[in-house]
Amino acid sequence: MSIKLINPFDAHAHFRQGETLKNILPYTMNQFSGALGMPNITPAITSLIHLQDYMDEVLQYVDEDRFMPMFTFYLSPDLNLEELEKAWENLLFHGIKYYPKGGTTNSENGELGFENVAHILSFMQNRGIPLLVHGECPEIDGELVDDFEREARFYEYEMDALVKHFPHLKIVLEHITTREAVNFAKAYSKQVKATITPQHLLFDRRSLFNYNEATESSYTLNTKKSGIMPDFVCRPLLKHQKDVESLRNALIWQVKHGKKVFGLGTDTAYHAPEKKYCECGACGVFTAPIALELYAMAFDQIGIINHLSVFACDVMPEFYSVKNSLPAKTVILKKEPQQVKESYYGAKTPFAGQVIPWTATVVD
Ligand code: DOR
Ligand code: ZN
Repeated sequence: MSIKLINPFDAHAHFRQGETLKNILPYTMNQFSGALGMPNITPAITSLIHLQDYMDEVLQYVDEDRFMPMFTFYLSPDLNLEELEKAWENLLFHGIKYYPKGGTTNSENGELGFENVAHILSFMQNRGIPLLVHGECPEIDGELVDDFEREARFYEYEMDALVKHFPHLKIVLEHITTREAVNFAKAYSKQVKATITPQHLLFDRRSLFNYNEATESSYTLNTKKSGIMPDFVCRPLLKHQKDVESLRNALIWQVKHGKKVFGLGTDTAYHAPEKKYCECGACGVFTAPIALELYAMAFDQIGIINHLSVFACDVMPEFYSVKNSLPAKTVILKKEPQQVKESYYGAKTPFAGQVIPWTATVVD
């Protein structure tokens, strides 16, 4: 069995900075023709000069004939509209990302809700600038929300009001994990896209405490090896089996109705081992080296492997109007076993050290 992907695109990646950027960006550049980099670096990208510095930093490692890095601003009341206007006209960025304050890595500068940024959202709506949403409510009225319920609460409490006030704002629901988010995406599919990570399609919350063993067709949970699995801790957290089913059903719905609502965004999030494997370890699943293989495992399991091309190459590139400007890259996915490396700069991907059933090869 073999699948051809022409110009696969990662609509949600963490490129990082410094030595980490240099080390890990090549994995995303290898599998994808382009990727949208998130702005939660330090300090967060909230000004044009900072965006330009970051672009310069990233571009020194990029062969632009082979890979198109794309950039985002961090949604903040401090964003300057004139700067945004200028940067948008010059195609320097492709969206502005909302982070819930205190909800995840480098989200200290985020907001709780959209009240303080209404003027920016209104500007974005007028210009057609997409809002990218990390859809979680870490707290409501000063009360911490249960970690597994933060996404569902967010869609109930924040999003209806947002689309009511901004009915023409283009929105991407990032890394959705729940039935509530799926339903929201379907209900507002005129103005909304949603990205899905490989980990949220493949694993449910049992994988936070039990070992995933790769098998010939996909994987099983090995309960003989249980304990805390830091490599599977990310925000939003892995959810209940029923939620994984909802994501999978959303894709089946998309295939059945020929829709383009749900697309690829890995949220690949490398953390150095000393930040990840410690008390209060950082959230993020690192998937870049085998991202397409992981998606292939999930799509194969769902029985929609032929849909992977639309999901990876059409939905989000069309939304960001880059479908025809991505550099040429053809990837063939074959159902051939592959040994996953034990670690990359100290970080483990899912199935580290195991044999997985799919292999991606860049052919052109
Ligand atoms: O797990 C996560 N890691 N979720 C995020 O929202 C941020 C990301 C990161 O930057 O590490
Ligand atoms: Zn992310």
